[in-house]
Amino acid sequence: MADDQILDSAAAQIERAQADKCLRPSIAGFFDEATNTVSYVVHDPKTNEAAIIDSVLDFEAASGRTSNGSADRIIEYVTSNNLKVTWLIETHAHADHISAAPYLQERLGGKLAIGRDIVRVQEVFGKLFNAGTDFERDGSQFDKLFDDGETFNVGELEGIALHVPGHTPADMAFIIGDAAFVGDTIFMPDFGTARADFPGGDARQLYRSIRRLLSLPDETRLFLCHDYKAPGRDEYAWETTVKQQREENVHVKDGVSEEDFVEMRTDRDKTLAMPKLIMPSVQVNIRGGRLPDPEDNGVSYIKIPVNAV
Ligand SMILES: [Fe+2]
Repeated sequence: MADDQILDSAAAQIERAQADKCLRPSIAGFFDEATNTVSYVVHDPKTNEAAIIDSVLDFEAASGRTSNGSADRIIEYVTSNNLKVTWLIETHAHADHISAAPYLQERLGGKLAIGRDIVRVQEVFGKLFNAGTDFERDGSQFDKLFDDGETFNVGELEGIALHVPGHTPADMAFIIGDAAFVGDTIFMPDFGTARADFPGGDARQLYRSIRRLLSLPDETRLFLCHDYKAPGRDEYAWETTVKQQREENVHVKDGVSEEDFVEMRTDRDKTLAMPKLIMPSVQVNIRGGRLPDPEDNGVSYIKIPVNAV
């Protein structure tokens, strides 16, 4: 099965990196407390080439103002470590924060990348926001659309993209050396998993994607896109391993069946409110993080569909 070959390639890459520390990335996590998001700068210590994963543009919904504090912290880190940014990667079109990728790309360079199925997300949300025909639904706002199993490099480090749909149709996990950036699939073991009730989301698919990730070698380092703490834990955390997830994840540890997961996830999702920033975030992120085109007065507007979601 093609699927198994892709996983085998990913596992082989991880094992090569586990055996040779020159093949492992240096990783810095930047936690944004306003949206509980973790952005990463991942670099090859040998060449200093770097990827920025899931950056955050600060946005105050009440005033409609954006600001760059979170992105500037990343720029500061990149410049003070003399890194050369070659990739700006989005694990998916986020619904809880706006991406800072265009702001970072202008200042640091790099190619903006996301999963191929972003076109499906653009289709669904393009309709919801009644975006005109000028809104291309072909992923052309991004420099690179990754397919399942596609390989890439960060400097001399090996990378491979895995399609892990369920939270949204386009979610990807990006594995660089021995580290997997899993986006919104799985969270810390004591918190569980991502919701699967956004338009295009699917709990059954999410289960299968997570089990796929958890077929990677035990000591694969997993880096999460969010943390919300968990009852009994006072510190934010965003790094775990396949082994730890298989033994401890409260939603999908080994032994939890697909049916049980789907029932739990579906029931739980019914109790969750929509993320505060879903409307601005999705509207901007399906455009590669660019604001909608300004109207004739030069101002960009964010729309809110009423009684439509
Ligand atoms: Fe998300």
